[in-house]
Amino acid sequence: MDHVEVPVPTPKNDEVLLKLEATSINPIDWKIQKGMLRPLLPTKFPFIPTIDMGGEVVEVGSNVKSFKVVAMLNALAPWVEQPAHLNFVNGGGLAEYAVANESLTVPRPAEVSAAEGAGLVIAGLTALQALVNPAEVKLDGTGPRKNILVTAASGGVGHYAVQLAKLGNTHVTATCGARNIDFVKSLGADEVLDYKTPEGAALKSPSGQKYDAVIHCKTGIPWSTFEPNLSSSGKVIDITPGVSAMWTFAVKKLTCKHVLSWSRKKWKR
Ligand SMILES: NC(=O)c1ccc[n+]([C@@H]2O[C@H](COP(=O)([O-])OP(=O)(O)OC[C@H]3O[C@@H](n4cnc5c(N)ncnc54)[C@H](OP(=O)(O)O)[C@@H]3O)[C@@H](O)[C@H]2O)c1
Repeated sequence: MDHVEVPVPTPKNDEVLLKLEATSINPIDWKIQKGMLRPLLPTKFPFIPTIDMGGEVVEVGSNVKSFKVVAMLNALAPWVEQPAHLNFVNGGGLAEYAVANESLTVPRPAEVSAAEGAGLVIAGLTALQALVNPAEVKLDGTGPRKNILVTAASGGVGHYAVQLAKLGNTHVTATCGARNIDFVKSLGADEVLDYKTPEGAALKSPSGQKYDAVIHCKTGIPWSTFEPNLSSSGKVIDITPGVSAMWTFAVKKLTCKHVLSWSRKKWKR
């Protein structure tokens, strides 16, 4: 990586120009940096890494309605097809200024720091989407009681998943390293397992819960480890699916009644 001077970008009609205060580095960012996503990303050089950030609006495009200059913001703009910034294709967060689409930019409450806000976006949204859509947890607590397992619960996505799951009507079992057990308990997890113990490696709930959904934030755990711990309609939501997870999904979709019925339900929406 080189430190270079680049021009301050100009916002298009539906964009805001941010003076950046904070950005976060997510796994996708170091994976791009290491070249693990070649030939898809980066599509061109120079490439400014990172896509989540917090900053101050210093210029707005002519169609921008929600923001005035000097509002404090957090922004995320994935997949915006512009020669701009803050998307996986163009990156842009490790700079002093970046433009973001208005629709993907939100005001930051005063009690949330720029760094806290920048750390929330992709990781928090990933946890939210996993819980609300496939796991069908109602975050207002009005849904049926569910048992949820969160793996890697001390990590970026996992620690949001635990807190969001506890807003719903859930019992949460979590795995993490021994050093983070107290931290994950403080987030509200009902049971916390050290992944290095035999019970933790087997994902076994100490109180014998069978999981209705697993928010799986670790990689490399085989289906055979999940299967004995799942309820009859249990789902594993793998946020980093590899070839093996996709193969298991395809086989289960063909052979397993509850995977088929869930897919049909989704298809009808
Ligand atoms: N961050 C995102 O926005 C995002 C979005 C989509 C997908 N993903 C993917 O999701 C995965 C996790 O990302 P992240 O940002 O949450 O990671 P992270 O912040 O780097 O955290 C990884 C966590 O894994 C835990 N861990 C290590 N070995 C474990 C094991 N055997 N069992 C259970 N936990 C274990 C570590 O726990 P201890 O420190 O307690 O040992 C650590 O907290 C990555 O593969 C990433 O590519 C991330």
